[in-house]
Amino acid sequence: DIEKILTLDYNQKLTSIINEQYYIPNNLERYLAYSNKTDNIQDIISIVNVGADSEWYTNTKETNLDDGIKMLVNKFHYLKEDYLPDDIVSISNWYAYEGHSTKKEVYDKYVAMWNAANKEGLVLLVNSSYRTLEDQQEEYATYGDDYASRPGFSEHQTGLALDIVTYDIQGNDFEDTEEFKWLQENAHKYGFILRYPKDKEYITGYSYESWHYRYIGKDLATKVKESGLTYDEYYAYYCEYKKAC
Ligand code: DAL
Ligand code: ZN
Repeated sequence: DIEKILTLDYNQKLTSIINEQYYIPNNLERYLAYSNKTDNIQDIISIVNVGADSEWYTNTKETNLDDGIKMLVNKFHYLKEDYLPDDIVSISNWYAYEGHSTKKEVYDKYVAMWNAANKEGLVLLVNSSYRTLEDQQEEYATYGDDYASRPGFSEHQTGLALDIVTYDIQGNDFEDTEEFKWLQENAHKYGFILRYPKDKEYITGYSYESWHYRYIGKDLATKVKESGLTYDEYYAYYCEYKKAC
């Protein structure tokens, strides 16, 4: 790595880049190429690590299905057209609006989370869950690129994502509820993370969604929360590069 660096032209930001916590040696040329776009070194590293130095939906790769519940689906990682998750079960109307389903493991953890929240007088309600490719086509036609994924690029197609709100609340009004605050403190204990946080659009590719939770399992959810990274960043550094997630 050092020999490669010694062959490069001088760049004022080089030492800051290689000293940044999430520096990945293989990305060095792309960091340098991106370094004239912003002076924020952490942003250079994050944007390049997740692939967002390319236009959204370009240089796309197939999602690694071997990752199981940790699989990454985003604007650069897609599910093949014939992908169908197994173990999809219906969600009881006690916990959701009518007609929802998710993976069995996600359901069990969601019910445990629901009960814990309910003990504190709170009511969680799922208003979107597993979606087929056709469902996502409709979703995308309705909401467009800011809020919906293009078909094949949605976490909802994995059966591992739930949109969670409470009675009579839609969209980011959810942020002002006790249920949202409770989820911020507790969702990771049940394996869920807030997937599209505020002010991270340039990393995730999506506007803030206070309602969209992704199941990745308790241990990983706890680590992601503690890192303060989006899942896209965490996956790029720890899962793909360090092979430790
Ligand atoms: N709303 C999320 C990004 C989706 O369509 O999967
Ligand atoms: Zn969602």
